[in-house]
Amino acid sequence: MTSTLGLAYGYHDSAIALVDENEILYAAHEERFTRIKFDNSFPVSALKDLGKTFDLKKLKNVVYYEKPFKKFERQINSLIQLPLRDLFSFPENVASLRKLFQTSDKYINKQLKNTLEIEKQLPVYYSSHHRSHAAASFYTSEFESSLILVADAVGEFESTSLWIGKGNILTQIYSQNFPNSYGIFYSAITSLLGFKVNTGEFKLMGLAPYGEPTYLETLQNVMTLNDDNSMTLNPKYINPFSSHRLFTKKLETLLGSKMRKDSEALLQKHADIAISSQKILENQIIALVSRALENFKLDKLCVSGGVGLNCVLNTKFSKLVGHKNFYSFSASGDAGTALGGALAFLANDKSNKSSKRWSHKGSILGKCWTNDEIEQVLNKFDLHYKRMSQNEIGFKVAQLINEGAIIGLFHGKEEFGPRALGNRSIIADARTKFGQILINEQIKFRESFRPFAPICLEDRIKDYFVEDISDPFMLRINFVRDFKTLDIHKNNSLTDKNKAILIKQRLEGFDSYIHSITHVDGSSRVQSIKRDDPRMITKILIEFERLTDLPILINTSFNVRGEPIVNSPFDALQCFATTGLSHLVIGDFMVDKMKNADMKNIFKVQLKYD
Ligand SMILES: [Fe+2]
Repeated sequence: MTSTLGLAYGYHDSAIALVDENEILYAAHEERFTRIKFDNSFPVSALKDLGKTFDLKKLKNVVYYEKPFKKFERQINSLIQLPLRDLFSFPENVASLRKLFQTSDKYINKQLKNTLEIEKQLPVYYSSHHRSHAAASFYTSEFESSLILVADAVGEFESTSLWIGKGNILTQIYSQNFPNSYGIFYSAITSLLGFKVNTGEFKLMGLAPYGEPTYLETLQNVMTLNDDNSMTLNPKYINPFSSHRLFTKKLETLLGSKMRKDSEALLQKHADIAISSQKILENQIIALVSRALENFKLDKLCVSGGVGLNCVLNTKFSKLVGHKNFYSFSASGDAGTALGGALAFLANDKSNKSSKRWSHKGSILGKCWTNDEIEQVLNKFDLHYKRMSQNEIGFKVAQLINEGAIIGLFHGKEEFGPRALGNRSIIADARTKFGQILINEQIKFRESFRPFAPICLEDRIKDYFVEDISDPFMLRINFVRDFKTLDIHKNNSLTDKNKAILIKQRLEGFDSYIHSITHVDGSSRVQSIKRDDPRMITKILIEFERLTDLPILINTSFNVRGEPIVNSPFDALQCFATTGLSHLVIGDFMVDKMKNADMKNIFKVQLKYD
């Protein structure tokens, strides 16, 4: 069977995917190998790993995720629009010209020859950015037909598009172009609040529940919903052409809030701006999607593009069409377009009459290390470890977590997408009252306001959460049953906008049996997992349930702030050694930090925070 290679690189988050007519064989992010967050270089390291794992003699086609010349045209247009004072953006835009040459079929074939020793010239096809996003979601869904929303900052020109997927065919029915962009709006507010664009959007989402939407009306001057349900960004407040400062001074004046510096405290007004921005985004996109569902008489919805990672918005969509009729792929960001480009190409094969769908296999599509490879690394550093059966590991880990241990879990293939879904995860007891502060400060070295998400056995979600939503990708929120706001919180006035948010006080302000995975508004971003899923994480959950009757654990990505998720056994050992984790499951081995006293010195690391 022949295979197709999807490539996404050049802008941010380089990735590759290998697909044949029936199966997604592999998908991985370059950043995991190079350890450079959002690495945008040609994905040499991921390709080398692919070459080690698969016989690529039958590789027939290569698909690049977008149309480089179109994108270049938009970038040149943007350059003309730049105010003279924004000279910082100039070198980046000039660099676009270099990037353009690095997407030619000649360049790609040369790289493939150097990296994989592929001698023959392969045909290179160019998808379009939004088609690649749409395909990643639709062709990995189980829907025969569906509306598909793609919303991101910008592709070539498009920032929002709607598609109808039917059988094998994707037809675009609506598009809105840059500079009007939901993604740009959200990133502009992200940066105003002092978070870094591209990673900080998740922080904005986490901050929002601490606030009240008191800026909702004001923000309607910034992003306006038009009668045809398109939107307009007001250039008085948003500067989409700048890559360094997406908002103007007038926005700071309008909101009464100067751009926050990373070292400055988070104030109540920052949370209020965050929730107001989230709500205006929801209101406007939902108006657009609702009308399209109605006009085209569709009852299913797939979502993709960076905005597809917005869990609260996804939940609104999910309620709109019904939970079983909603789908968002785990790698909704640009990395997923490596896969989407390849799927769009394969589905377009006219000789193929049947509806093509590809199983995403729970997004467990990346690199896998054998026990032999792992043991070699453990021995190289002379570590004390114990090999155990998988059942023994499940039992032991459940016991340790019940006693308070926080454990690194590195087992099986790596996940594709920004979330760790149980194979490169840090797991802990969700019942601990201040687990959020403890793990943020001592393990992840990140801001203490950020909540943690749980992983829960799917058949018991309804016992602990208000709605019976299954989501293997952690892309929707639910509400914790029996969540109670305490008097201390009621008395904690949120009206003083310039008062710092006191995280410990806010966490003391509510009662929840699973406190560490309950956000201050009672919400929780639940990952579901089926009881018969053969992975190690399921064994641990089942054992933990047997021991405590609780089928839930904290599940957060195995990394520290600013670093990509761990990729190699060395990365896992380094993260384990230099953080407050007590035990590490790595392949079929367990490492106890107490028995490896010198680990911290061996694996010293300089951390760079984002
Ligand atoms: Fe995109």
